[in-house]
Amino acid sequence: MTTSQSESLCPSKGIYFSIQPNIYWSDSFQRWLCFDRTLIDQILNDDTFRVHDFDIDQLTSRFNLDLKISSKILKLFPLAHEGDIHQELRKKFTIEINKNQKNALEVFKTEIQLVVQKIKNDCVNKEIDLIDLIHTAIKKSNAVIAGMPQLSNLNFSDLSRVLDDKTSIKKRVEINNYLEEVLDEMSSKMPYEDKIFHLALLAVGSSSLLGSLSDSLLLTLRCTPKGKFTNLSFDFDLPASGVSLLERVASKDIVISNVTILKDQKIQLYIESSGYQTNPMPQYSTTYFAAPTRHVCPGMKYSLDMWRIFSEAISSLDVSYELIDFNYRNGDSVFNFPTSIRVKID
Ligand code: HEM
Repeated sequence: MTTSQSESLCPSKGIYFSIQPNIYWSDSFQRWLCFDRTLIDQILNDDTFRVHDFDIDQLTSRFNLDLKISSKILKLFPLAHEGDIHQELRKKFTIEINKNQKNALEVFKTEIQLVVQKIKNDCVNKEIDLIDLIHTAIKKSNAVIAGMPQLSNLNFSDLSRVLDDKTSIKKRVEINNYLEEVLDEMSSKMPYEDKIFHLALLAVGSSSLLGSLSDSLLLTLRCTPKGKFTNLSFDFDLPASGVSLLERVASKDIVISNVTILKDQKIQLYIESSGYQTNPMPQYSTTYFAAPTRHVCPGMKYSLDMWRIFSEAISSLDVSYELIDFNYRNGDSVFNFPTSIRVKID
């Protein structure tokens, strides 16, 4: 591990969150930032704060771009709406998730057992990237939960970048072109609107899950960088979240904790910080899933079950490991995304 990596071990993130003011205006972000769990819960449950509409039509017309598929997908996200449209879309997403959940978990269980076998049989005395192995297992189960098992090879980890308003135009064009290709590959018998719906479901859950599982594993390994997988102590609930922050917009002037948030001002809620609220090491927080609010994640049960299956499988692995290095995705302010977790297996 390099010095800068060891300096940024988990406790320092806890220190970073603990020295942030509860709420303040950031000139560089041109929005409010909030790090306090009680305030975050209050804001998420207050109807004055509405969700970001993720509308990219202004951007596309200003630059004369065709981002039709991305725009359609964004309009289908329940988390881009309030009121009746939100309720309707939320119901549609929840029904599909509940319908596919059991099969998706079974697929994941089988795939993660294959990962464990592969490490045991083929990787002793080798350096491997755990992320590659985890990606394959999650891709297969997420394709099932999104109702399109045939797309298990989809490179989905970039799709969620459409949710980040700082994503560059170049990246948006790249994602849109990729989505065009995927749509062409989907069955011609499936109506266009259904294809968009399944892609939207895949996009909304994939990075959160991939980020949360891999960041939780990495956190566990960083706390014990060398040893046997069977001796690792995994938290029963997800210790770390892949979703760093949520964004809301004030629909009228409002006073919160002695500051006045003006109509149309944005506020970023650092939900990840709630995991560190009482401890320098993160601990599971229901805020990771925006619970209990009107936008509480309908993929919460599935995701927590995935973590349990995953951590049980990894801790059954009777080999030694040493954490060699790791990296996080650059330029993504919404998702915590380890892109590699390199370990040596003995
Ligand atoms: C550990 C993994 C996950 C985490 C940490 C997570 C977190 C969240 C959070 C914080 C929200 C609220 C967003 C907001 O209020 O702005 C949300 C919403 C949502 N999540 Fe998840 N999520 C995860 C996995 C999933 C999965 C696997 C799916 C789908 C299979 C999914 C589907 C959704 C949907 C459809 C919404 C929108 C709900 C609404 O607006 O009513 N999530 N998620």
